[in-house]
Amino acid sequence: MADYKSIHFTIDFEVSGKVLDVVNDYLAQQPEPRPFVEPNSAGYVFYFHTLDIRLLQRNIEALTAQDLFSSNDSGTSSKTGQILKTIYEEVSKIGSYGVKSGKRQYVDFNIERKVQNRKGKEKNRSQYYYAQDNDFSETSNPLPSEMTNRIVCGDSLEVLKTLPDNSIDLIFTSPPYNFGLEYDSQDDAHKWELYFNKLFAIFDECIRVLKFGGRIAVNIQPLFSDYIPSHHMISNFFISRRMIWKGEILWEKNNYNCKYTAWGSWKSPSNPYLKYTWEFIEIFAKGTLKKVGDAQNADITPEEFKEWVVAKWSIAPERKMKEFGHPAMFPEKLAERVIKLFSFVGDVVLDPFNGVGTTTAVAQKLGRRFVGIDISQEYCDIAQKRLKSTLF
Ligand SMILES: C[S@@+](CC[C@H](N)C(=O)[O-])C[C@H]1O[C@@H](n2cnc3c(N)ncnc32)[C@H](O)[C@@H]1O
Repeated sequence: MADYKSIHFTIDFEVSGKVLDVVNDYLAQQPEPRPFVEPNSAGYVFYFHTLDIRLLQRNIEALTAQDLFSSNDSGTSSKTGQILKTIYEEVSKIGSYGVKSGKRQYVDFNIERKVQNRKGKEKNRSQYYYAQDNDFSETSNPLPSEMTNRIVCGDSLEVLKTLPDNSIDLIFTSPPYNFGLEYDSQDDAHKWELYFNKLFAIFDECIRVLKFGGRIAVNIQPLFSDYIPSHHMISNFFISRRMIWKGEILWEKNNYNCKYTAWGSWKSPSNPYLKYTWEFIEIFAKGTLKKVGDAQNADITPEEFKEWVVAKWSIAPERKMKEFGHPAMFPEKLAERVIKLFSFVGDVVLDPFNGVGTTTAVAQKLGRRFVGIDISQEYCDIAQKRLKSTLF
């Protein structure tokens, strides 16, 4: 016999074998495995599995109408209607049921509802499928002491090659808008290609030096005027390298860093310009979303955590750029949030485009170890001073 659920019910009138047959005839219209009623010593038992409740309701309505208009029924339709109604009422008291193709399921439902084998199903769905089958090593390596807590002046592509594999916990950076290339030539596409080739070569090194479970958070302002969606292009690059997209933070600067008068086609759908008051931070994880670390070394407060996991951060742009002598700094508050949210105290934080050292200064303040690389000696000197300076 199929798996049935049963409920016991009583009825306050005599039920003949004929009435019971008619009840079971109606129930036989239900989907397989068909429900049925049997008498027992205390009354009746309704056995059921899957019910078409609307069909049951229609049966009851039809029997009630038949009862009203039929004169020679000898009460069969009325009694059948009342039994079906009792069954319907008893069944309606059962709160937990599932619905499949419009039919209510009473058996096996809990098994389905608890999502059996959730892990297996997730695997089938293939969470971050694009990052599976990576060949990242899980073994971390120590960062040599001569590279620890250092500001290094040089081209990141070269300097990063001197760092061991799997030695960095968090990279936070903001790439340059260009690599000294001038964009006044006619050959912009080519220039952009060169730009991305160089940037991606540096990012390949970044991925190599990240530990398994390490993160890279890249602050990007797309060059909207050139219609280059760099945030998407950079994300596509990391995805192609089997890095897991951990998320995206929208850094709302609340300032119009664009010309108010640059409307494109003024008051015309022909070609209006869109304006942006925000930048993006794209975050990727190497190999796993979960980072190994001692809970005692998490320094984020409950309030900070609650506020910062909401991925729209309203933070004013850096106001002291003139003072620091750098035109494209991000504010310390931004670095502080990224570092506290994505790394533990004592972790190693790297910025391969360190500028005047916002990342390294904040990392130091927050008890992280750090490495900052920039191609400009002038910026590196400021970053170095900043580590001790009162400017911070
Ligand atoms: C957007 S700025 C970063 C500013 C930094 N976040 C700060 O707050 O000071 C990008 C930096 O990348 C540096 N840079 C450009 N090309 C580089 C390269 N090949 N290697 C290392 N640094 C480079 C530039 O000198 C510039 O300071």
